Amino acid sequence: MDKINISIKEKAFNRPHSNIILGKVNDHCVRLAVNEKSTFDWHNHKDSDEVLFVLNGELEVQFLNGHIVILEKLDSLMIPKGIIHKTLAKKRTVNLCFEKTEDSTVFQPRMGKVKKGSSVFVFDKKNFARWFSANSVKHKNELIWEVNDHCLRFAINSGEYQMHNHPNSDEAFIVINNSVTLRLESGEIRLNEMDIFVMTKGMNHKPIAQNRTGIVFFESKSCETTMK
Ligand SMILES: [Fe+2]
Ligand SMILES: [Fe+2]
Repeated sequence: MDKINISIKEKAFNRPHSNIILGKVNDHCVRLAVNEKSTFDWHNHKDSDEVLFVLNGELEVQFLNGHIVILEKLDSLMIPKGIIHKTLAKKRTVNLCFEKTEDSTVFQPRMGKVKKGSSVFVFDKKNFARWFSANSVKHKNELIWEVNDHCLRFAINSGEYQMHNHPNSDEAFIVINNSVTLRLESGEIRLNEMDIFVMTKGMNHKPIAQNRTGIVFFESKSCETTMK
């Protein structure tokens, strides 16, 4: 795939609810959703965990026990498969969704009246900007959410990394701040803020970051690295 700038892409959406696949990572994908004054009614995902990652705006996630999580800029939350939830965007909200490509969304039409206080397991949200400033190091790569047999990682890259490939997994790069250049055998790709690029499995690449660069990675949990 070519790199896609998410900020440019989302501006083209002006319907109350838009959702497209930005890139495929093995049998999973990264989706872009744009919602404005819209509700995605009670539902669950039968076959997949789902990570919501808000880029702009505010997404309210409601659970059956009355628990509400408000996701703001650079907040992320994993919703395990089967957990019934509802999302609400009062203002224009742009978010990414990390999940299995073939997933069945099952709507639960009568879930509007639910018992409050029943127990449902809800994770704490994780914010990329807070994570980035709390880790004043040049290099870090931390698994933040497991998504089925895949994972979402927050990372800080600085300087040059060795040329390598991942023989058994695609690897999505989403640059959150600053920029990284990927040296490939065919040339170079520079990824700036809000660019997404999926490195195909087996493809040699050497990341070079001039400054301390914040990146979200999405890949298989069993992703192996072969140094060149
Ligand atoms: Fe959902
Ligand atoms: Fe890599």
